[in-house]
Amino acid sequence: MKKRQLIVAGNWKMNKNYEEGRDLAKDIVERLQPSQVIVILATPFIHLNSISNIIKGVSNLKLGAQNCHQEESGAYTGEVSSGMLKSVGVDYVIVGHSERREYFEESDALLAKKVNIVLEKGMTPIFCCGEKLEVREANQHLELVENQIKNALFHLLPEEFEKIVIAYEPVWAIGTGKTASPEQAQEMHLYIRNLLAKQYGEELAQATTILYGGSVNAGNAKDLFQQADVDGGLVGGASLKAEDFVMIVNSF
Ligand code: 13P
Repeated sequence: MKKRQLIVAGNWKMNKNYEEGRDLAKDIVERLQPSQVIVILATPFIHLNSISNIIKGVSNLKLGAQNCHQEESGAYTGEVSSGMLKSVGVDYVIVGHSERREYFEESDALLAKKVNIVLEKGMTPIFCCGEKLEVREANQHLELVENQIKNALFHLLPEEFEKIVIAYEPVWAIGTGKTASPEQAQEMHLYIRNLLAKQYGEELAQATTILYGGSVNAGNAKDLFQQADVDGGLVGGASLKAEDFVMIVNSF
């Protein structure tokens, strides 16, 4: 067993109405076996309060949000603050998902602010990084991910950084059914861990959880999770079916 925390997080994205969300969460609670794996449900905002109650009492099941605003509060119509998330029992916030970078033009500088406010509220950012296909084809994926991490995270002090979870999600593998090979995932995860070691030291780098995301499913999770530097997954489509999601959780 690896020393660092093993995590499987389900990113529901913009799926499930209120009743469907409650049903899915209840189904997951029923199927989940006690284990050392932290399981996170990162749901749309409307579900957070009710699902917080459904998962209460399952110690390894945690609530996540998919985004938050970078300011404390104020005139930001349509936005949700980190303090609001905390107040309904959220422990983890996804920051910098590639869909937010792409469709909402979130920059590294903005993500650095979001990381800060999530940490200030005592929650854990799940910081996403990953390259598009053309970047990988140009063999610049390592450099791109390095810059994403440096720009959004390396202002943190070690005692702040130790609370961060990183998710490597190659954009070409998201929702495409084309997952990174275990070797491709391991190569990047090791590269990230070495980068963290240079900045924060070996001990902190070894203790950092680095998740893989991009077409993870019940069939490929085991091979991915067996890689030395892959500490779990950030799962999109396959997190919307309780049976598949719990099979992924059981894949370590
Ligand atoms: P898929 O698992 O649907 O490819 O999505 C991955 C993802 O974006 C998780 O955040």
